[in-house]
Amino acid sequence: MRAFPLVLFTGRLAAVLPGCNFERACTDCGGIDDFPPLPSDHPPGASAAARATAAAIGRGVNFGNMLEAPVEGDWGLKVTPEFIDSAAAVGFKSVRLPVRWSNHAAVARPFTIDHAFMMRVDSIVDRLLGKGLYVVLNMHHYRQLDGDTRDAGEEAVFEPLVDERFIRMWVQIAEQFRNKSDHLVFELYNEPHGRLDDAGWNVLAARTLGAVRHSNPSRIVVIGPIGWNSAGSLEWLRLPNDANLIVTVHNYDPFTFTHQGASWAGSPPTGVTCCTATQIAALTAPLETARAWSATHDYPIFLGEFGAYEAGDMASRARFTRYMRDAAESRGITWTYWEFAAGFGVYDPQAHAFRPALRDALLGS
Ligand code: GLC
Repeated sequence: MRAFPLVLFTGRLAAVLPGCNFERACTDCGGIDDFPPLPSDHPPGASAAARATAAAIGRGVNFGNMLEAPVEGDWGLKVTPEFIDSAAAVGFKSVRLPVRWSNHAAVARPFTIDHAFMMRVDSIVDRLLGKGLYVVLNMHHYRQLDGDTRDAGEEAVFEPLVDERFIRMWVQIAEQFRNKSDHLVFELYNEPHGRLDDAGWNVLAARTLGAVRHSNPSRIVVIGPIGWNSAGSLEWLRLPNDANLIVTVHNYDPFTFTHQGASWAGSPPTGVTCCTATQIAALTAPLETARAWSATHDYPIFLGEFGAYEAGDMASRARFTRYMRDAAESRGITWTYWEFAAGFGVYDPQAHAFRPALRDALLGS
């Protein structure tokens, strides 16, 4: 008799929560409270392993515009053995792998990630690791999580489920990659912004890290601040009480130089050169902010993205790149350049060769 009103109640919940399917036993439908946030009242500072991993990331590169597109290939690039082998052979120590998981997972509970896609990412990770590279595997462009417009062809998620879906995708990713080498690092989310304010992101990151820790108790995880991972937003970041963390920032200052002509950034005017003393001060300041934060909070910093778009002249781009590299390295900050073979590309996929000026700015003596 007692079960009867409970069933009715569950049925009503199911009616308002698509995916919490009344027919299916709803064991995995407890909601976001299945994932309590790790406490964040006293982050202990980084472990020796987190410091060693941050250092080992060294000089790396992003495989941007590949698995980051709505579907791999949509933005003109797929991950190829050529890219992987070339990145390793030229001397990069790490690859950051931006992945748009959100367009390859069901929009209804339990938000299952497409198996073929999971296997595709798995095979790429294995090939990268097999080359001796460190791999920073992230989640990129879950548009609804930031409150952004979905790209064409992306399915809408029922709004109250958006955060829970983020965590449940991470549960699957973490499970899939749990036995990989410790050269694989997870990065929870690229450039949180918009809908993700400081309090919202701090709690979501703490919930997600807690979920990841069930299958990966000590894997190094990268977390960055809101405001598109800007160093200026570090002051609002509250890390969970976990030592196996690296903190990331991105730096595209001076933006009028790095993003000139970039359509997705509103096409700022072209013809901007680099680097005046003012521009050098602009590109250095965020790294100094990050260094100071790191000294106070005792977690290493990883510069996950910096670069200058192809609309700028090559000599300026190379100068900018070298200044950024030196400004980071002199502060003990390792990095992954944005990006390998698209509009910022250090590699020319048509010529099957590195662009010498950018390659030397990144890796030369
Ligand atoms: C961020 C965006 C990516 C863009 C890059 C440079 O990583 O997610 O799409 O290309 O910044 O603007």
